[in-house]
Amino acid sequence: MKGRWAELRVGVVGAGGMGSRHARNLLGRGAAVVAVADSDPERARSLAEACGGARTYEDGAELVRDPDVEAVVVASPDPTHARYVLACLQAEKPVFCEKPLATTVQDAEEVVRRELACGRRLVQVGFQRRYDPEFRALRRAVEEGLVGRPVLFRAWHRNARAAHGPPGSNEAVIVNSAIHDLDELRWLAGAEVEVVHAVVGRSVDPSLGEGILDLQVMQLGLTGGALALVELNLSAGYGYEVGVEVVGDQGSLSAGLPSGVVARREGRCGVSVPGDWLARFEDAYAAEVASWVDTLRSGGPPWPHAWDGYAALVAARACAHALRTGGAVRLTAENPPPLYAA
Ligand SMILES: NC(=O)c1ccc[n+]([C@@H]2O[C@H](COP(=O)([O-])OP(=O)(O)OC[C@H]3O[C@@H](n4cnc5c(N)ncnc54)[C@H](O)[C@@H]3O)[C@@H](O)[C@H]2O)c1
Repeated sequence: MKGRWAELRVGVVGAGGMGSRHARNLLGRGAAVVAVADSDPERARSLAEACGGARTYEDGAELVRDPDVEAVVVASPDPTHARYVLACLQAEKPVFCEKPLATTVQDAEEVVRRELACGRRLVQVGFQRRYDPEFRALRRAVEEGLVGRPVLFRAWHRNARAAHGPPGSNEAVIVNSAIHDLDELRWLAGAEVEVVHAVVGRSVDPSLGEGILDLQVMQLGLTGGALALVELNLSAGYGYEVGVEVVGDQGSLSAGLPSGVVARREGRCGVSVPGDWLARFEDAYAAEVASWVDTLRSGGPPWPHAWDGYAALVAARACAHALRTGGAVRLTAENPPPLYAA
């Protein structure tokens, strides 16, 4: 297997912003992109050409069945993920799936069930913050006990504006965007979301549609007792920023604060803020894909895994429920199956 994957032959489903970025990063890692699928044939053709002449498909399931495709990247819209991941599991092909793993808890459960039936981990979920150098340094500091026992996680996630136009629903805002923050909390705290105390929102950009709450504030309780506060803002206006402060009983740690070259001119002093996630997480996207390829080559288990995708989605759905009903939601404690240990 090791020799066979000396150059991993990858198929990319979804030739938009993320699919193109992952394809570029794969080429930089010595993998070959041999097939591209997109429901828009022109997009598929354009990315396939940029990858040196890959085959093209309109349906990702056909790409998964292509015998020359050894592993698959799924970067099509959220509601398509589960179907393509399940097709990969059916074919026993490793798959890197952009977040979210699925849009319904039932579909995420089905992915976990089918992977368990395969008896090995085949799914990696695109929670790239886990590969961001700054977030990793912060997690190490938490683990080493630099600020003692964490008691509060205060996270912010701001987009300049809703990237793909109106998100459609408040649930889609949470399942598409806040899922990153929920995974971040699980990973940094080494804990699960135990209770959603409250989720409140307001409309900032009315052009997104009536009732769309593009600013949401979430108050959570984690197993082990820490509290968490998440600001999710699709319409911050000024740029893209993601950060977190971990307050411990002996100090606090922060990541994601403005940094870089400081410019002083015309009576002002400041640093620039990235315009979007592609700029902010450039290194993390490259690192997660590099890790995926290296892991497949070495036969190790991919990470973050399907259970991470499932658990984050369960938390996201609980947040959506809390927003809708205005009440608290307590989650049922679940232990991951042994396949997902470590
Ligand atoms: N990890 C991150 O930070 C991050 C950032 C942005 C987007 N994403 C995720 O990546 C995925 C893609 O987002 P994007 O920004 O690249 O979107 P995009 O709109 O730029 O690209 C999506 C592509 O999928 C194609 N497509 C639509 N339906 C399809 C189908 N049924 N089968 C195959 N292709 C289909 C579209 O034609 C388009 O080319 C989404 O799931 C999104 O949530 C993750």
